Amino acid sequence: MSRLTFPDGFVWGAATSSHQIEGGNVNNDWWAREHAPDAYTIEPSGDACDSYHRYPEDVAIVADLGLGSYRFSLEWSRIEPADGEFSRAARDHYRRMVDTCLQAGVVPNVSLNHFTVPRWFDEGGGWTAQDAADRFARFTEFVEPVVARDVPWVCTINEPNITACFANLAADTTFGGVGLPAPDLRIADGLTAAHHRAVEIVRSWGGPRVGWAVATQAYDALPGCEEQTARYAEPRETRFLHEATGDDWLGIQAYTRTFVGPDGPLPVAEGVETTLTGWEYFPDAVGVGLRTAAREVPGVPLLVTENGIATADDERRRAYTEGALRSVHAAVTDGIDVLGYYHWSLLDNFEWVAGYRPTFGLVAVDRSTFTRTVKPSARWLGGVARANALG
Ligand code: BGC
Repeated sequence: MSRLTFPDGFVWGAATSSHQIEGGNVNNDWWAREHAPDAYTIEPSGDACDSYHRYPEDVAIVADLGLGSYRFSLEWSRIEPADGEFSRAARDHYRRMVDTCLQAGVVPNVSLNHFTVPRWFDEGGGWTAQDAADRFARFTEFVEPVVARDVPWVCTINEPNITACFANLAADTTFGGVGLPAPDLRIADGLTAAHHRAVEIVRSWGGPRVGWAVATQAYDALPGCEEQTARYAEPRETRFLHEATGDDWLGIQAYTRTFVGPDGPLPVAEGVETTLTGWEYFPDAVGVGLRTAAREVPGVPLLVTENGIATADDERRRAYTEGALRSVHAAVTDGIDVLGYYHWSLLDNFEWVAGYRPTFGLVAVDRSTFTRTVKPSARWLGGVARANALG
């Protein structure tokens, strides 16, 4: 097959999030949920990958692989442990992460929020509270020393659409179930307002390019079900894409596709390959997500901020990623402005409700020693990144 070269300056990287890798995030809403008497999470996050202490090792792996950028998130519950009470030490920790990246020649890409919020924020109404956007703005202003300089990419909020849907995740809904729960529209509104406030603040610093990242599901209508599909997608995806209008970039996160029939989303058909999250193995998902976004918010540059596969078979990870990159390249060839590609995830980490079983990592992590072991797929992806080309 012919060699596929990506545009000059295309960003390559790997992604993580604070709660999924740091460990010991006892002061956020997820820790509370994991330990509630009626917890529907499979297991608690515990020490995770101990990345709160081992981040220099993680950054060194990114550098060594030749993946030029590391996407990680700030843990709000550490930085503002109580309402209005800020920790300079926690803020310094994240600035050290940025500095560690810079020293290693790795470009930092920082999310201000990736699902978790401090307990006090959650208990005070979370994203539905009247002053939610003010509180997020106050936090954003406090982290200026972390991200205003030397961080070219700032994501305000990761997957607001999934946060809005997670709110209605009932105890009997497991990952791999059919479709997404209906979003809580008040949460969606709160997240949207918080995003716009944060964009304004980050813009005022004059440094980073700012956007947010939306989970796309490659909705595929059965014949005659186009309207039903659009109605299903609107509150779960489309409205969040539209809110990126005018932003510096829009993050696209894609893993699988969802067929929609007359009665809503359909389960994965019998005999079709699925991953450890129960999702259809569908590498083209990212290409579909890019095309959907380019149609819905024309003119906003796109950045693939997450794409990957939960599998115990690393050769399947390589094959999936190659297929995904082909679909990204095809989108670029068709004139879509794609700035880069981040693989989810750098590490095997805490997959929320599903615990540690779904392994998304390019790098394995021993759950008792925290030893990192680079997988062959990681070396392969590093080679693609160094060449800025596939094949
Ligand atoms: C999230 C990650 C998650 C991944 C795989 C995205 O929904 O941003 O936190 O681990 O997809 O489910």
